[in-house]
Amino acid sequence: MADERYAFVVVSNRLPVDRVVADDGSASWTQSPGGLVTALEPVMRQIEGAWVGWIGQPGDDLKPFTHNGLRIVPVALSEGEIESYYEGFSNDTIWPLYHDVIVPATYHRDWWDAYVEVNQRFADNAASVADTGATVWVQDYQLQLVPRMLRLARPDLVIGFFNHIPFPAYGLYSQLPWRTQIIEGLLGADVLGFQRVSDAGNFSRAARRLLGYTTRSPYVDVPATEGLPARRVVARAFPISIDVTAFEELAHSPAVQARAKEIREELGNPKTVMLGVDRLDYTKGIGHRLKAFSELLAEGRLNVVDVTLVQVASPSRERVETYKHLRDEIELTVGRINGDFGTIGHQAVNYLHHGFPREEMAALYLASDVMLVTALRDGMNLVAKEYVAARHDEDGVLVLSEFAGAADELKTSLRINPHDIDGLKDAIMQAVDMQRAERRKRMRSLRKRVRENDVGHWSRSFLRALSDANGGIDRYGFDPDPLGDLEWTVERPPSTSP
Ligand code: F6P
Repeated sequence: MADERYAFVVVSNRLPVDRVVADDGSASWTQSPGGLVTALEPVMRQIEGAWVGWIGQPGDDLKPFTHNGLRIVPVALSEGEIESYYEGFSNDTIWPLYHDVIVPATYHRDWWDAYVEVNQRFADNAASVADTGATVWVQDYQLQLVPRMLRLARPDLVIGFFNHIPFPAYGLYSQLPWRTQIIEGLLGADVLGFQRVSDAGNFSRAARRLLGYTTRSPYVDVPATEGLPARRVVARAFPISIDVTAFEELAHSPAVQARAKEIREELGNPKTVMLGVDRLDYTKGIGHRLKAFSELLAEGRLNVVDVTLVQVASPSRERVETYKHLRDEIELTVGRINGDFGTIGHQAVNYLHHGFPREEMAALYLASDVMLVTALRDGMNLVAKEYVAARHDEDGVLVLSEFAGAADELKTSLRINPHDIDGLKDAIMQAVDMQRAERRKRMRSLRKRVRENDVGHWSRSFLRALSDANGGIDRYGFDPDPLGDLEWTVERPPSTSP
């Protein structure tokens, strides 16, 4: 356990960096995947605090250390815990259940036991580095029991929780054998943040149905229990975002602009470049996108000489069975499409199964005429926001699933239902054929929206709500608006995947 104490602590399953051990036993750190890290890293660079989380592989306790200016407090997980807590309960029970059971959720009692045990370890680590009266901000579905565990151990703390993924409707949520414990775990927080208004509503309904608590949006009234006084918990939407200024700056850099040109040349200068960027996850609707694209090629509405699709699919959760199947399925489909429609010199789909540095991502966004976000269910989808932030030239068309949280804000995108393949095909054609004036009009309005709600706005509003929920008083020496008006001009290490 660490000796240092912090007034601000973030707790997430993943740290911003993963430890990678080479064959010769030497260890190094790489940027870890996912939107959570993308959003939180700039926040942590503005507020001095500690980041408690897992190093991405099995191992013994490491001592707290500083990486790239961030204070890291590692939590150790054994190989068995990675299988049962991370791959099992987090990613084979909660993940599919919270994404509307796109694939069936698996319920195992020993996975649940591991989830409880590992959540307790995260709570203990956070409690050990949190100063008296500190603010602890717990992140995401892997750690839903931590707020209550922390409150019982440390009633002096101010506790926030943000759920980065959807929260399902009660009809689905009620399948979970441990549904009551999870709601009780979450209600240990003072403020619960969700991506969409509907997610917050689903949570409040579950609290009412399962525990009989009184709810009046945005409040859930929790009666006195286990020696803790009665409390009023706030549960509402705080749509997450990206570091817009940093991304714009990146996209403005001459090197990135030159690279964007080069990418188009390398692709054979087609009339239209379409792009998909996703973790290789069944929630992202990559198969639906490929189906629509291949039908358009088969019908001759698109021609492989004119149009190419670049699909970045970064590796994810590769030992979980459903992810293995998905990879096989997607790669088979890509192979078929290329076999059926490719010519020498013109590939229909450029499939890239790896992550890229942020500079390359920005160049890809600039090089692409049409961005396809066809998620079947997605908490937010920060890739959609990155595409918009990168397009300072006010060009490019965003095709966006209405099932991604980003659709609530990005209303001038071409919004689609990815299950409706004909509708998706028509939207793709509309994007390909759209005139410059309309592209500019739509992109301008998208950019305005993304600028208004950047990641600084997200974290400031959440932390302000947390302070307000505690009387709005700076009782812990913690500035309720710790980010002030600081500009987001933070230098960031390259990311390796979306
Ligand atoms: O944002 C959702 C999320 O599951 C994060 O919690 C997570 O860090 C990221 O996606 C990537 O997933 P994983 O950590 O399982 O690789």
